[in-house]
Amino acid sequence: MSALIPRPTMEVAPGAVHVPDWLTLEQQRELVTACRDWATGPVPIRHTELPRGGVMSVQTVCVGWHWQPYQYTRIAGDVNGLRVAAFPDWMVDLGRRALTAAYGEAAAAADYTPDTALINFYDGQAKMGMHQDKDERSSAPVVSLSIGDTCVFRVGNTETRTKPYTDIELASGDLFVFGGPSRYIFHGVPKVHEGTADPATGLTSGRLNITMRVTGLTG
Ligand code: SIN
Ligand code: MN
Repeated sequence: MSALIPRPTMEVAPGAVHVPDWLTLEQQRELVTACRDWATGPVPIRHTELPRGGVMSVQTVCVGWHWQPYQYTRIAGDVNGLRVAAFPDWMVDLGRRALTAAYGEAAAAADYTPDTALINFYDGQAKMGMHQDKDERSSAPVVSLSIGDTCVFRVGNTETRTKPYTDIELASGDLFVFGGPSRYIFHGVPKVHEGTADPATGLTSGRLNITMRVTGLTG
């Protein structure tokens, strides 16, 4: 949602850049439609089971490669044994434009070829604990897009899941990119502000987050 006072682009840590209101309402609507489609299959959205028991409070569906703790596969052996949906070309293009918006280097962005996206849906109670994205074999940046309810996004450090960290708000349409020295920061979502979404995105409740990554895998 557009803020009354525009929120500036901010480098929260070296290589970790927040670009508020990057997606137009139309783009958010299109992404919601695409995510709704992926959520139905071939591998439906689900609460990921954790190896030591329990399930994640967010619901996740993947495209390109299927993520489960702590690996990527083409086949979703932990869900229904089907191959995940292909990573679409338009999303590669979106990832490149996101990188250019965050870092201002169109030439470097042209080499960025994300091949997986994790799509997380948060209801008002869902959270994500502090973690690093380190199951990829590539250190290329992670591109994160948020739609729906505003959340608190905790941007930590690369050493520990505790302080020092910076809490920012990710609202609908916001882009956040973490790469370079911040590629392996601990990060998490301690709180979703329920009911803050603009229904015009097509998402009437909850928060959708899409993270594009480069797995570095082939096959
Ligand atoms: C993630 O870390 O995979 C998701 C982050 C978010 O929901 O903003
Ligand atoms: Mn993550």
